[in-house]
Amino acid sequence: MIKAIKTTDLKIGMYIMLPHAWKAHPFLRNSFLLESRRQIQKIINYGIESVNVDMDKSEIADDTPPMVYQEYLSRQQEKQKKINIVTAEIREIVNDTKMAPQTKAEAVHWQSVDMMSNLFHNPSAENIAEVKQGVGGIVDLILKDNDTEHYLLRLNSHDYDTYIHSVNVGMLSLSLAKAVLTKKDKHDMHALGAGFFLHDIGKVNIQEAIIQKPGKLTEEEWAVMRKHPSMGFKLLHDARQISEESRLIVLQHHERDNGTGYPKRMKGNEIHVYGRICSIADVFDALASKRPYKQMLKPFEALKIMKEQMLDHFQKEIFEKFVLLLK
Ligand SMILES: [Fe+2]
Repeated sequence: MIKAIKTTDLKIGMYIMLPHAWKAHPFLRNSFLLESRRQIQKIINYGIESVNVDMDKSEIADDTPPMVYQEYLSRQQEKQKKINIVTAEIREIVNDTKMAPQTKAEAVHWQSVDMMSNLFHNPSAENIAEVKQGVGGIVDLILKDNDTEHYLLRLNSHDYDTYIHSVNVGMLSLSLAKAVLTKKDKHDMHALGAGFFLHDIGKVNIQEAIIQKPGKLTEEEWAVMRKHPSMGFKLLHDARQISEESRLIVLQHHERDNGTGYPKRMKGNEIHVYGRICSIADVFDALASKRPYKQMLKPFEALKIMKEQMLDHFQKEIFEKFVLLLK
């Protein structure tokens, strides 16, 4: 049975059929099962007011109370069903030769945010391996397709959450790595990309109340927050999916050239070039994003603060390459 449902009444577990072709909405397919709150929000944000729902293919009736993602996840796990973490869609978009660069950039970005959201809810070794695959497609895109890369660097999705931030930093770091690491064949760019996208994976072990706090953190909360690089490093070590060098990105992305960073207060060349690349992208995205307690800055304003107030935090030549990238 097909039922028209207002998008504000959609629930995780409904099988929806979107009314438009690809260009009018940010999903690769017109019909699919809703697996996250983010997908529903995305449909609402696109101004779609109602959609048809195939009740026979849905996993929830329209009169049952809505599930939160965790509940949906545990139901699927009970049924031993694998959550689709959308890496196949990313590959399809990357390989679509007819899609305009701007559309491609937007589609890859949104699918990547979904991928990271799903991974953060279930950071199993299997899912990390799958994200590595999806990121591999994005790496190939950034290395070969300068037009799409141009739009990826300028996407303004600066509402802050950990998943959007992971994707922004992943994309920015990859482009910066492309500009900085001249002998690309000496670097495993796929492994590197995975490290950049997963730089904040340690936050899965930090309470939601601290991650989502709509204000500045207390000193105790900061002490917990500062553990996320080491926790992420360990999580990836135990999952055995990411190379040692790429794990250093996770461990070192909050180290600063002048020794004021964490967790180890490393200085200058003690910090791996991968970690130094990621730290620049990470600070830029934090400054350029809207937070509950601060407005977002325009890219040039964020770069100005980095140059005037934080220059000794970064390796100078890498920072200069970053500025050129965003010009
Ligand atoms: Fe971080």
